[in-house]
Amino acid sequence: MQDFTYQNPTRVHFGAGQIAKVRDEIPADARVLVTYGGGSIKKNGVMDQVEAALEGYQWWSFGGIEPNPSYHTLLEALEVIKREKVDYLLAVGGGSVADGSKFLALAACHAGDPWEILAEGKHPETALPLGVVLTLPATGSESNGNAVVTNYETHDKLPMFSELAYPRFAVLDPATTLTLPERQSVNGVVDAFVHVSEQYLTYPVNAPVQDRFSEGLLLTLIEEGPKVLSQPDDLAVRANIMWAANLGLNGLIGRGVPQDWATHMIGHEITALHGVDHGRTLTIVMPALWEEMFEAKRAKLAQYGRRVWGLDGDDESVARAAIDKTREFFTRMGAPVSLSEAGIGADSIDQLVDNLARHGFTAIGEHGDITPDVARRILTRAA
Ligand code: NZQ
Ligand code: ZN
Repeated sequence: MQDFTYQNPTRVHFGAGQIAKVRDEIPADARVLVTYGGGSIKKNGVMDQVEAALEGYQWWSFGGIEPNPSYHTLLEALEVIKREKVDYLLAVGGGSVADGSKFLALAACHAGDPWEILAEGKHPETALPLGVVLTLPATGSESNGNAVVTNYETHDKLPMFSELAYPRFAVLDPATTLTLPERQSVNGVVDAFVHVSEQYLTYPVNAPVQDRFSEGLLLTLIEEGPKVLSQPDDLAVRANIMWAANLGLNGLIGRGVPQDWATHMIGHEITALHGVDHGRTLTIVMPALWEEMFEAKRAKLAQYGRRVWGLDGDDESVARAAIDKTREFFTRMGAPVSLSEAGIGADSIDQLVDNLARHGFTAIGEHGDITPDVARRILTRAA
């Protein structure tokens, strides 16, 4: 196992009625901005619960944060923060609202051009405190310091990380997810699956605790994931998925082990260029990446095949069959496993690879050996 430092500062309130805890978390004299997306929270009663929790507070709201949050929309929210002297952010929604609000938490305290935060990694020394009421289990954003923001004018979808961006608290009430459209439920399951894989499917470093945690999460997502299609009103299923997605990217399983993330970096380019949902870019890229990087990943693929899929045989055949099983799982979930299934032609591969290189992602993967040429081969396999 590799050496590491681990802290997750986000307090999680999980279960029915927990939105009321917002009141215990946010100081009574705070000036709060509630950020949200396209309005799902107004239809499903989540906003009513947030309003009840904030009774007596001074608060404002900013809606319209898009899936894959837009940098320019967030600049509008930043104006509200400055005008109203907001000093606490409450994000209510999915990963996009949480991510956009993390960027805002930093941007509100940044003296220079906010774009520097994303493009140059220039971060302020402090950030506004942030809480999250999660309505879409997928990203783990409610319990981590990551955010991804898109500049639609330039097709730049850029990730950032800051210790300052960890939410102070996160409310996970599975009942809020019962209104998810099937497509978003699927996106969440496969996104969480790929998060675990990015931290697990690399090479062995004698880290059985992390491996067993990861295998447990993958097995849970394989067992519970299809149930959101067959029994979408089952609250227990929603709860299991919500907790699995949180643990998939709250930092725990990735400590002390190599991490990949190349599927995500390539996937972000597909979203930036073609607008494909985040989770669906991952199901397109990851199986092709595993095939292209087969030798480097063979040992872990074989372990995964045996422990998660119950396969028997020699390493080579188990590892190959594990990739097939993964594709079948994504297909069973209704997610695409090729660019063509997402309506993207092979003629866009050059542009995707150019954008990846322009963003500086020229040596990605756990060994830093996924160069633009290798990314091109991965995308060609995924065509
Ligand atoms: O905007 P509203 O009206 O709320 O509708 C949203 C949106 O259209 C809807 N939705 C959310 N909760 C709902 C609901 N509809 C009905 N009922 C509910 N309870 O779902 C749609 C998608 O929401 P979004 O927040 O975009 O989805 P997700 O949580 O999958 O977030 C995706 C974003 O997170 C980034 C992705 O790149 C993408 O921009 N990621 C963030 C990560 C992180 N911070 O660690 C890691 C991930 O790998 C990922 O990159
Ligand atoms: Zn993801």
